Amino acid sequence: MYWRPFSAVLALASTSCLVSAASQSYSWKNVKIGGGGGFVPNIVFNPSEQGLVYARTDIGGAYIMNADESWTPLLDFADNDHWNYWGTDALATDPVDTNRLYLATGMYTNSWDPNDGQILISTNKGQNFTVSPLPFKVGGNMPGRGVGERLVVDPNSNNILFFGARSGNGLWKSTDFAQTWSKVETFTATGNYVPDPTDTTGYNSDPIGLAWVTFDPTSGESGSPTPRIFVGVVSNGTQENIFVSEDAGSTWNAVAGQNNTYLPHKGVLSAAEHTLYISYSNGAGPYDGTLGAVMKYNITTGEWTDITPVSGSDLYFGFGGLTLDPQRPGTIMVAALNSWWPNGQIFRTTDGGQTWTGIWEWVDYPEINYYYTYDDTSAPWLGANATTTALTTQVGWMMEGLSIDPFDSNHWLYGTGETIYGGHDLLKWDLGDSRNVTIESLADGVEEESVESLISPPTGPSLISAVGDDGGFVHYDLDTPPANMFQNPTWSTTVDLDYAGNDPTNIVRIGNGDSSSGKQVALSTDSGNTWSQDYGAADNVSGGKVALSANGDTVLWATSGNGVQVSQYTNSFSAVSSLPASTTAIASDKRNDSIFYAASGSSFYVSTDGGTTFSVSGSLGESTSPVKIVVHPNITGDVWVSTDQGLFHSTDTGSTFTTVPGVTEAWAIALGAPATTGGYPALFAAANIGGVGYFRSDDAGTNWAQINDASHGFGSVSSNVIAGDPRVYGRVYIGTNGRGIFYGDIAGAAPPPSSTAPISSSTSKPVSSSTSSVPVSSSAPISSHSSSAPSSAPSSTPTSVASQWGQCGGTGWAGPTACASGSTCTVQNPYYSQCLPQ
Ligand SMILES: *[C@@H]1O[C@H](CO)[C@@H](O)[C@H](O)[C@H]1NC(C)=O
Ligand SMILES: *[C@@H]1O[C@H](CO)[C@@H](O)[C@H](O)[C@H]1NC(C)=O
Ligand SMILES: *[C@@H]1O[C@H](CO)[C@@H](O)[C@H](O)[C@H]1NC(C)=O
Ligand SMILES: *[C@@H]1O[C@H](CO)[C@@H](O)[C@H](O)[C@H]1NC(C)=O
Ligand SMILES: *[C@@H]1O[C@H](CO)[C@@H](O)[C@H](O)[C@H]1NC(C)=O
Ligand SMILES: *[C@@H]1O[C@H](CO)[C@@H](O)[C@H](O)[C@H]1NC(C)=O
Ligand SMILES: *[C@@H]1O[C@H](CO)[C@@H](O)[C@H](O)[C@H]1NC(C)=O
Ligand SMILES: *[C@@H]1O[C@H](CO)[C@@H](O)[C@H](O)[C@H]1NC(C)=O
Ligand SMILES: *[C@@H]1O[C@H](CO)[C@@H](O)[C@H](O)[C@H]1NC(C)=O
Repeated sequence: MYWRPFSAVLALASTSCLVSAASQSYSWKNVKIGGGGGFVPNIVFNPSEQGLVYARTDIGGAYIMNADESWTPLLDFADNDHWNYWGTDALATDPVDTNRLYLATGMYTNSWDPNDGQILISTNKGQNFTVSPLPFKVGGNMPGRGVGERLVVDPNSNNILFFGARSGNGLWKSTDFAQTWSKVETFTATGNYVPDPTDTTGYNSDPIGLAWVTFDPTSGESGSPTPRIFVGVVSNGTQENIFVSEDAGSTWNAVAGQNNTYLPHKGVLSAAEHTLYISYSNGAGPYDGTLGAVMKYNITTGEWTDITPVSGSDLYFGFGGLTLDPQRPGTIMVAALNSWWPNGQIFRTTDGGQTWTGIWEWVDYPEINYYYTYDDTSAPWLGANATTTALTTQVGWMMEGLSIDPFDSNHWLYGTGETIYGGHDLLKWDLGDSRNVTIESLADGVEEESVESLISPPTGPSLISAVGDDGGFVHYDLDTPPANMFQNPTWSTTVDLDYAGNDPTNIVRIGNGDSSSGKQVALSTDSGNTWSQDYGAADNVSGGKVALSANGDTVLWATSGNGVQVSQYTNSFSAVSSLPASTTAIASDKRNDSIFYAASGSSFYVSTDGGTTFSVSGSLGESTSPVKIVVHPNITGDVWVSTDQGLFHSTDTGSTFTTVPGVTEAWAIALGAPATTGGYPALFAAANIGGVGYFRSDDAGTNWAQINDASHGFGSVSSNVIAGDPRVYGRVYIGTNGRGIFYGDIAGAAPPPSSTAPISSSTSKPVSSSTSSVPVSSSAPISSHSSSAPSSAPSSTPTSVASQWGQCGGTGWAGPTACASGSTCTVQNPYYSQCLPQ
């Protein structure tokens, strides 16, 4: 759910042929956080093929569920030219030819995304796609992104699709499997509702448009277009918002007798009951809703019935997710879109809405009966260990996606602002007062964090991350979900991190002040396991970049609105008047405690007095926006700066710079372990070197190898952050905006044992847990897998044997294909084979 608006046009021309860089095969995996970490607007079960399930996210693309209930991402190929593919505003799985999958993608309908949207078409369940461009924008991360689905396949004639557009663009139809589209001119409603007409950015003032299109399959027969089609529109007040066609979309009428007080979020047809169920909220979502309703429309009689589960003072939310059990006519579930207090709420009826029960109910205030057991085994940081107010809303919030498995009445999944929950004992809900269903975190493989900063210090844990919404994590084991997010102080978003070069268990982090007022600087002396507030920071100062001096005593802070400030020994921060307020890149020397660096425009600044005063040193040529300064971990004054004009290097503490030939633009950069003992550190760069990509140089920028490939585009390059591992040659961490953190190793290189073992001497630090291929619960083996999408991932010779429950094959899999004795490699689906016990 966390996102950063884009302020500049990001798409850049790239050429497929690189001028000066060779390529090197890398194997890429997600650093496992395990709980999703972002909004999952919907989860869609195919109604005809058991076990075929997709989830869509707002900023991290779409996923397919594997047989072991883990998820595989489908859009990791999206690169800087196609970053808006990760905004997935609608998803349709074909009920006839179940191999067909359609995604309506595009990130923003305002200026933050310069590109129009597109329908991505797959005929193989998302292994690869063709693109049907649309003549308008699609808003996967816009308000109202949880309504729907607004993209649907006609169940009687699957060449036909309808798509309900945003921004006043109306209803569109394809008759050739989504390859070409034309506007349905007879459908004139476009949706009058905008969340905030005064928003000059265009983000909250753009019409959300059409909410959903729902076929009534019983009105027609296989082979002919379905005659009866309902459409819900995001409008209220004077405009009707539920429409129907009885002639396959040629003509349309408002459904008589409707109540258009609220916005219709979901319209789900019960074929057996010949009834349309609709959830309504007074906001478009996903964060809002203070009133709402649930209605049903009897198609036979034209009768509307208000079946809202609660009323009066108990009704303080709108309704989002709505699902029914097709095997049990009359069984419906609906989610409160946002019940922030005392908990998220879900209701279930088995009699078509005459009576409802909640997943929790008041006894006598403040006493509550909880009719669920909570299980966050696969992402412990989500639940009991989470301490922010929002995270203790255990059942969830932003609940637009709620789905009962059409083949299994006990199996359900729902999306929240944070993760995917669900379970396998849903029928226990119908056991009266003794009911107790288990809510499980079921987002293994969904990695949706928006990553703000990464550090890989030379001692202690391999990786420490700063993320949006979920604070940040110490990754003691790259393949095991962390037990905790950063705590005490707990902020929802951490924006930057640094470590002290001479004493690298000393870490600083800063927050952006979005959740709690108060001080937004914290320090750790034990590699991020425990923290203390830096009381030198003023209240309400937040954001920006931070640097920690080599000995860890001085914090330099380029705040987002209060200029650059410095503090030694946690004394009060004072202004650094010799640096411009526009300073965006700062760094500490990693060896000399007195030296800091800063850059703004084309000027490079150095301080030799612990950040108290800076003076202009060397020049960064024609640069207008320096992005990142990195400093050699072992050599004072050896500095790299990435800018919009390329990559600059100084070996004399910033007095003079050389430009790196062939690098025309550079974003995130990092230094990692050298190729040979005593050699120059490996240099990693997200850069334009004859094309935008991710590169490594082992000789300080003379020669480069491209390390990303056609299967790993990492989305918007300017949003991403990089860390090089100082202990493992070749290893790099890439933090994305919506697909979590990846770590890459040179393909075929055996990772050394130090890669995951904590080295810190601290005894209070959590012990790293066992490898991810070991089941963490007896009922649901969790297994790791590489992210994969197109079939062009590099293959490599198996170098080892996968353990029981581990992955042993699948599209794009470059790991071991042999299984440990006692288990057999079993194909689960095209993406995923697993070592199962014999
Ligand atoms: C998708 O993959 C299949 C199987 O490898 C291949 O035949 C097809 O040409 C690919 N389609 C696209 C659009 O790349
Ligand atoms: C539509 O709903 C919004 C939000 O509740 C409300 O402010 C607005 O007045 C409604 N519009 C009409 C025309 O009723
Ligand atoms: C329409 O719905 C609103 C909100 O539920 C309700 O207050 C109102 O009475 C309804 N109008 C009619 C005519 O039923
Ligand atoms: C729809 O109305 C008809 C006629 O009153 C009734 O027989 C039928 O049960 C109703 N359907 C539902 C689901 O209530
Ligand atoms: C359901 O189980 C959970 C944990 O096992 C328990 O905390 C809760 O009280 C139970 N609910 C009821 C109504 O017994
Ligand atoms: C909470 O974190 C601690 C480590 O700080 C860990 O030992 C514990 O198992 C975690 N609790 C849960 C419920 O995950
Ligand atoms: C911080 O912001 C809060 C809320 O805007 C305000 O009440 C408080 O006075 C501010 N504190 C300072 C020190 O500016
Ligand atoms: C650190 O740098 C300052 C300024 O250049 C210098 O005076 C000092 O001697 C250096 N300290 C060490 C320990 O090298
Ligand atoms: C820094 O120096 C240490 C000790 O010589 C060495 O082990 C390490 O590889 C160096 N780090 C880098 C990134 O060059």
